[in-house]
Amino acid sequence: MNEAVVWLDDGSPHSPRFNDRYRSRTGGLAQAASVFLAGCGLPQRWRDRTQFTVLETGFGLGLNFLTTWAAWEGDAQRCEHLHFVSVEAYPVAATDIVRNAQAPTPASEADAQLSARVQVLAQELARAWQDLTPGIHTLRFAQGQVQLTLAVGDVQATLKSLACVADAVYLDGFSPVLNPEMWSSTTLQDVARLCRPGTTLASYSVALSVRDDLKQFGFSVKKCPGLPPKRHRLQAVYSPP
Ligand SMILES: C[S@@+](CC[C@H](N)C(=O)[O-])C[C@H]1O[C@@H](n2cnc3c(N)ncnc32)[C@H](O)[C@@H]1O
Repeated sequence: MNEAVVWLDDGSPHSPRFNDRYRSRTGGLAQAASVFLAGCGLPQRWRDRTQFTVLETGFGLGLNFLTTWAAWEGDAQRCEHLHFVSVEAYPVAATDIVRNAQAPTPASEADAQLSARVQVLAQELARAWQDLTPGIHTLRFAQGQVQLTLAVGDVQATLKSLACVADAVYLDGFSPVLNPEMWSSTTLQDVARLCRPGTTLASYSVALSVRDDLKQFGFSVKKCPGLPPKRHRLQAVYSPP
């Protein structure tokens, strides 16, 4: 059964299970672009690469994936293959993914173009969306150049079973207070295990425990100015001694 998503009066998607919103009130597209893509140094870091792998904790409504795919598609110097690996315990319905992609009116012309493209790609993702039983699901797009590996299961068990090497990591659980498992030491240590020196990591959360754990597991961590209403966002690079 698909995970329930409740659409609030202000248009934002809410999780009754975690009592939190799937994305910031100001729009998920801006958050995806500025917190996650820019926070991981994208699109620049995938340029002139054969393959680039993004690892995400929390696929949710797929907006980070769709925004990454749209940015890749619009980049003349994109890598040949984009591999997006995401962990999700509670997959939502395809209709919620499509509805979420219809974000509030973007501020700039560039944002409007990105938003229009994300809406088209959301339809494509919805067509490929199947009955997502626990386990690994591989969905291919763009003549196989974009691969989505959706690992359906609890984050802790699932990360342990993954064998990818991440070039960039998006940490995107619900708030650490409401969803502690997604930010636990065990989870972050397993994320670090899937990184290599130079892997970039981004998150909207700058919780002290998250920063401390990331440092302990080999990341150099920076607290950067955030996207309003958030005051800060997190940027890190895996640089073990
Ligand atoms: C903020 S939402 C992710 C938003 C998403 N990245 C997007 O672009 O739409 C957090 C996600 O983490 C998932 N989640 C929470 N706890 C989890 C767990 N223990 N294991 C795996 N996924 C979990 C939730 O079901 C939810 O979809």
